Parts: sequence; structure tokens; C-alpha cells
Amino acid sequence: MTLGASAREASSRSSTNCLRLDLGARSYDILVGPALIQKAAEALLPLLPQKRVIIISDETVAALHLPSLEASLQAADIAYHSMTVPAGEATKDFKYFQSLCEDILALGIDRKTMLIALGGGVIGDLVGFVASSLLRGLDFIQMPTTLLAQVDSSVGGKTGINSAHGKNLIGAFHQPKLVLADSASLATLPARDLRAGYAEVVKYGLIDDPDFFTWLEEHGSAVLSGEADAQRSAVTRSCANKARIVAADEKEAGQRALLNLGHTFGHAFEAECGYDGRLLHGEAVAIGMAMAMDFSVSEGLCPQDDALRAKNHMYQHGLPTHPADMGTRRGAVQMGLAPLPDTCFDPDRLLSHMAKDKKVQDKKLVFILTKALGQAFIARDVAPGKIRLFLQNWLSEPYRPS
Ligand code: NAD
Ligand code: GLY
Repeated sequence: MTLGASAREASSRSSTNCLRLDLGARSYDILVGPALIQKAAEALLPLLPQKRVIIISDETVAALHLPSLEASLQAADIAYHSMTVPAGEATKDFKYFQSLCEDILALGIDRKTMLIALGGGVIGDLVGFVASSLLRGLDFIQMPTTLLAQVDSSVGGKTGINSAHGKNLIGAFHQPKLVLADSASLATLPARDLRAGYAEVVKYGLIDDPDFFTWLEEHGSAVLSGEADAQRSAVTRSCANKARIVAADEKEAGQRALLNLGHTFGHAFEAECGYDGRLLHGEAVAIGMAMAMDFSVSEGLCPQDDALRAKNHMYQHGLPTHPADMGTRRGAVQMGLAPLPDTCFDPDRLLSHMAKDKKVQDKKLVFILTKALGQAFIARDVAPGKIRLFLQNWLSEPYRPS
């Protein structure tokens, strides 16, 4: 990775970490640091072909962080229009895609109009897809305000909405012009959402960065307790990992699929729960990663100790490693978690969701498995019968750390 001009400039502000995602003409900077929303205009101005932006946020984030962004734009004489949609996964659908498109068109736009996605992964994915579609492609900027969005969804250009047939099945690759990850915005994030985002942080260690996983074993609690330096380091290292993988395979012709570790299993649970908030995306990914590691062990591919190390870490940091954790673990009720029907998940129904996964090719299931902690690989053509048998056993045996 190299630093771009704007990144180098920002680098001089010591508290901001700067990375560049190298994608030729579509390259962009990723800035990570405190108060970036407050001083957003500074980073935006060099990228705006006209001094006008449209901000889209969700109602929760808008109440907390939109005033700072608007104040920054006002001070820099940038005209803006702000719109909000309801918070939550259910907003990532056709209805809100359509209403946003129509509302933005009603404002009168041209191809120089810049959109800003201020919020978590739901807003980033939805607004990115709106941007990719309006006038056949508007530029947009990602201002992620959840840990999950800062370490994953805002980087790499995957945008989209959910379908009745499954998650993220409608969308486009559309890269942002800039990612502005304000680490201070994480201070208002509910603990449960912070933990859910932490699953995607752990994912990078498990894919191919075991040193980062070791770092997380030491500093994970600091990340989750809101320590600014630890959070900034975790976000920056995660983004560096993601940027490296995306730069090598932007459209997921090969290795980018590794970023889906835990997702084929996790998406199936999410679909079964109907995106109703009982199971957050990051929680589903944590469960999915535990399953991917356990399946790898059961196939004789991965040492059991590595799977236990990964699961211990997630469990001890408040992440579920099995659907049963959602309802029965200590403090679950106080944490606002609704019990999931842990042993009621039907392997065949889960398999039918997996069969609709975007990685499926020629009706063959593709999973990200692992040879060891930090050695994930793409397994093509995994026999559904093997997965079915594994699911049957695994679902009835919740993991508990020793
Ligand atoms: P989210 O956008 O729903 O945000 C979670 C909750 O936190 C929401 O209620 C939101 O209002 C609230 N929130 C956001 N920022 C806040 C803040 N700073 N303070 C207080 N509350 C705040 O969910 P998410 O976990 O950010 O993202 C999940 C989505 O991201 C899923 O739809 C998933 O599919 C998608 N995703 C996409 C990619 C990609 O590459 N495009 C990668 C990973 C995940
Ligand atoms: N979150 C998976 C990817 O960006 O490819």
C-alpha cells in the first residue's frame, strides 16, 4: 500500500492514520482518526467537483453525528441536503432503495453530485448501491460510524441490498472516493454493536494475519472497552488487511472470497432469523467462523487447538460461537439479546440458504475453511451431505470454553 497526496497531508496530523487502497483510477484514501466527522470538509473539499453534497444517514446516527458533519460543511460553504432512513438491517431493501433514489432525484442532481453515507454497514451498503445506480453512477464517500463498517463494509466497494432470497443478493461493485473513519464516533456505539463489529476484526487475524490475532489476544479488551489508541490500531490494521486483499482481487475472482470467512454459515442463520435484530450480522459471522473452524477440524484439515484458541477468544470477548450462546449465556438478557431457537435450526433449511450464496458456482457450495489459525483457504465443491451431517451434530453440541 502507498500513501496518496491527500493521505500524506493528513498523515502530518499525528492522530490520523492514512492508508491508500490501490485500484488504479479507482484508488482512494482511508483515513482513521478522531474528530474526522467534525473536520470532514477539510478532507472532502479536494474531492468535490461542486460544493454540494447529499448526506444519507439513519435516524439513530443522524441524531448523534449529523450536526457535527453539517457544521463542518457549513463552515466550508459546502451546500448540503440531509436525508434519513430508519436504523437496522431491514432498511437494506428495495423499499428504501427506491424511496432514496426518488427523493434524491427530486432534489435535482447531476453527475457531479456527491453522496455521503454517514452510518454503519447498512447505510454504507444501501447508499453505495443508490450511488452506483443514480444517473448510472454517482460518486460517494463512506463515513462509517460502527466498528464493523470502519473495518470492513466501508472499504472495498461492495454495495447492495437484501432480497427475499437472501442477503446482499442485489448490488454492485462501486468504490467510494474516500473512507473517513472517525474513531471518536465509536464512543456512542452500543456495546452489542461494538462487539458485533469486533467479529470482523478477529476475522482478519483468522484469515491470514496470525500476528494480528496474537495482538488482539493482548489488546482485544482495550478495543472493546473503548480505548482510543487500541481502537485506532485495530481499525487501521484491519483496513490494511482488507485493502491488500481487495487491491489484488477487486471483483472477487479469487482470493477476495477469503474475506467471507464465516459468512456462508453466518448468512444462513441471519436469513433464518429474518434480519429482525435478534442476530446481528457480526454475531452471525462469529458463529459462522466458529463453525468454519470446527468443520475444518472435523475434516482433519485444522488442528483442534487452533479452533479452540479462536473460539475461546471470541467467547471471552462476548461474541457467540454457537446459536445457543445467544439465549443462554450469562448476561444475555441484560444485554438485550433475545434467545435464538438454538437447537431448532433445521440443517436442511440452513443448507437451502447456503445454496443461494453468491459464491455458489455450477450449484457447488464454496466455503472458506482453514488449515490453521491464520491460514484460511477457499474450498470449492464441498459436498452438501457432509455439511448436513456436520450441522446436525454441531447444532446439538454448543461449545463451552474449558
Ligand atoms: P448497522 O448499520 O445496522 O449499524 C448498527 C446499529 O448501530 C444501527 O442501529 C445504527 O443506527 C447504530 N449506529 C451506527 N453508528 C452508531 C454510532 N456511532 N453510535 C450509535 N449508534 C450507531 O449495522 P453494521 O453492523 O454497521 O453493518 C451491518 C451491515 O454491513 C450488514 O448489512 C452487512 O451485510 C453489511 N456488510 C457489508 C460489507 C461490505 O463489504 N459491503 C461487509 C461487512 C458487512
Ligand atoms: N466483506 C467481504 C468483502 O468485502 O469482500
